[in-house]
Formats: sequence, structure tokens, C-alpha cells
Amino acid sequence: MTTLLTTHDVARIVAANGLPALLARMVDYLEADFRRWPEFDKCARVASHSDVGVIELMPVSDAREYSFKYVNGHPKNTQVGLPTVMAFGVLADVATGTPTLLAELTLTTAIRTAATSVMAAKVLARNDSKVMALVGNGAQSEFQALAFHHLLGIAEVRLFDVDIDATDKLAAHLAAAAPALRVERCASTADAVRGADIVTTVTADKTNATILTADMLAPGMHVNGVGGDCPGKTELHADVLARSAVFVEFEPQTRIEGDLQQMPADFAVTELWRVLTGQAEGRRDARQTTVFDSVGFALEDYSALRLLRDCASELGLGVDVGLIPQLADPKDLYGHLVGAPVARRRAA
Ligand SMILES: NC(=O)c1ccc[n+]([C@@H]2O[C@H](COP(=O)([O-])OP(=O)(O)OC[C@H]3O[C@@H](n4cnc5c(N)ncnc54)[C@H](O)[C@@H]3O)[C@@H](O)[C@H]2O)c1
Repeated sequence: MTTLLTTHDVARIVAANGLPALLARMVDYLEADFRRWPEFDKCARVASHSDVGVIELMPVSDAREYSFKYVNGHPKNTQVGLPTVMAFGVLADVATGTPTLLAELTLTTAIRTAATSVMAAKVLARNDSKVMALVGNGAQSEFQALAFHHLLGIAEVRLFDVDIDATDKLAAHLAAAAPALRVERCASTADAVRGADIVTTVTADKTNATILTADMLAPGMHVNGVGGDCPGKTELHADVLARSAVFVEFEPQTRIEGDLQQMPADFAVTELWRVLTGQAEGRRDARQTTVFDSVGFALEDYSALRLLRDCASELGLGVDVGLIPQLADPKDLYGHLVGAPVARRRAA
């Protein structure tokens, strides 16, 4: 049987753990999987592009489990009442191919993306970072702000979005969820970035935007670039990368999708797993500028699905659904149809 976890189940998991504790658990699961990076069969995600967005499939596996995520990115969706990003995913048993878990991943993607940002910032941002600029105040933004506040000690966030209503929504949520977090509303990206130790860009626009330019950088800054995650969709001016040490998830994917797509093929980057395993240097000194060019990698969803499964089992959540026929004789698939109740249209 396959266990189904819906958005309601994930909301219950968040309520039972508390978001800060769940984010911390997510970081632990991510770090555990990134540290055994060579054990995974990896590829860049498969993307189907249209003029208005993208639909992607993100597979990864180790010797025991296979996972994939279906996810879209449609920046104009909010104008028709839909989220920019929607997702679901599957965990499957490699030994038999049985899909064991089918789960919502829209809420979960926001949690795993914020946790991935924290995992990177733990080794790339200065330890004394207290102020974060947050540019782009949409669906992902609360998760980023709360993760950096609770897990990394960020005490002040400086908000900017071209949509004032989005900033109102974010400020109201943060006031309720984290009263100790100082929230400053800013008039522009440059205003938000001034004095920040960490800059998180999480905007959505299917264009080569230049949200952050090199003149906004200050020595020792860490840039957490989350929104530039598709060919033709960037947030950082090329000079921001040129002046910084740049860290990525899976280099072959980020070369195509990240802000890195603007740079020559031989521009040096470091994969994050190498820093986490001590094979490569993270931040070199207090004056270096670092960039995490985040695009979202399949292994993060594998970790997230593992965590969802463990939380659901602890809380007794999820229902077993007949996604795959249960057969008395595995060679008799047709027999499953014989005697199945005939669906009747209900009288009005
Ligand atoms: N790296 C990852 O793993 C990962 C994961 C999830 C989402 N994302 C990306 O993050 C981005 C944000 O996702 P979301 O779900 O929050 O989208 P959203 O549409 O809910 O919010 C995006 C916000 O960006 C704002 N914005 C657009 N252009 C701007 C500009 N020039 N300056 C300031 N603000 C601007 C919009 O007004 C909107 O409020 C998307 O591009 C998405 O693809 C990346």
C-alpha cells in the first residue's frame, strides 16, 4: 500500500512539532543526506518550459530509496489566485519499485528550501550575522525569515517587495509568529540591503532581473539567492558572482538554472556537500562575500519526504490508498477488474 499525506497532514505535522523545531529537524535530515552525497544517483531536473512558466520533475535515488518531485514555477499564477510554486512527491522502494509514500510538497518545499538556506548559511555566513534583508515577500518569505531567526539568530529582517500587500502580509505574520524579531519595511532593495549581514533574494519573475547589484555588496555579506532558479530567470547581477565565493547544490543543474547561468563555463564554484564534509573551504574570512546560488535540488526533497514519513508515523497520520492494485495472483491483473463494482451516476 502507498501512504498518502495531504496538506492537512503537513499542517498537523507543523502544529505538533512547531515550525522552528520542524525546520531544525529538516536541517538535520538535509545535512545527513548531503554528507553521503556520493551514494546518490543524481541528475539535473527535467524541465518543460512554456512562455509563462516551467513544470519540472526532480528524481534522485540511493541503493534503498528513490524519490521524485513534481513542481511548477509560474510567477503570474498569483494573478489568477494560484500559488507560483505547487508540488507533490513520491518515495519508492528501490528493491521492488513500490511507491511507498505520496505526499504534498507545496508547504513542504517552502520548509525544505528555508532549511537548505540555513544549512548553507551555517557554513557560509559570518557567525555574528544579526540582520537579514529579505527581498521578495511572497509565499516562501515567512519560512525564510523564521528559519533564519530561530536557527541562526537573525534579530532583524529588512523587507522589500514591489507589491506592498505582500510585505503587509509578511510583516503581519512575523509580528504574530516571532514577536522578538525586529521587522523593518524598506523603500527599495538598496534600502533593505544597507547594513544587512545576510541578503535573501526570493523574488519571482521570469526574466533576467538584477535585484542585487555589486554596488550594494558590503564586505563579509552572505547572499542567499533563492529566486533565480530557471534558464532566463536570474536575480543577481553577474558582478555579484564575480566578486564572491559562489557555492551551489549540484553544479551541472546550477550551471543551467542558477544565477550562475550568466557566468563563463569555467567560473569556479564549490558544491555545498564538499564544505559540509570538510573537503572544501566554506567562508574564508570575515571580509569575503559569499553567495549560495540556490536552485533547489532533488536530494532536498528526498530528505523532506523522509522527514514527512517519520513525522507521520510518530503522529499516526496518513491514509493507505490503492494507488497500486493489490493482487492475490500478481500475474492476474485482469482479474482485479472482474467483479469490481460498476460506478453508477448518482440521481440528482
Ligand atoms: N531555490 C529553491 O529551492 C526554490 C524553492 C522554492 C521557490 N523558489 C523560487 O523562489 C521564488 C519565490 O517563490 P514564491 O513562492 O515566494 O513566489 P511568490 O510569487 O509567492 O512571491 C514572489 C514575490 O516576489 C516579488 N517580486 C517580483 N519581482 C520583484 C522585484 N523586482 N523586486 C522585489 N520583489 C519582487 C513579487 O511581488 C512577489 O511578492 C520563485 O522564483 C520560485 O521559483 C526557489
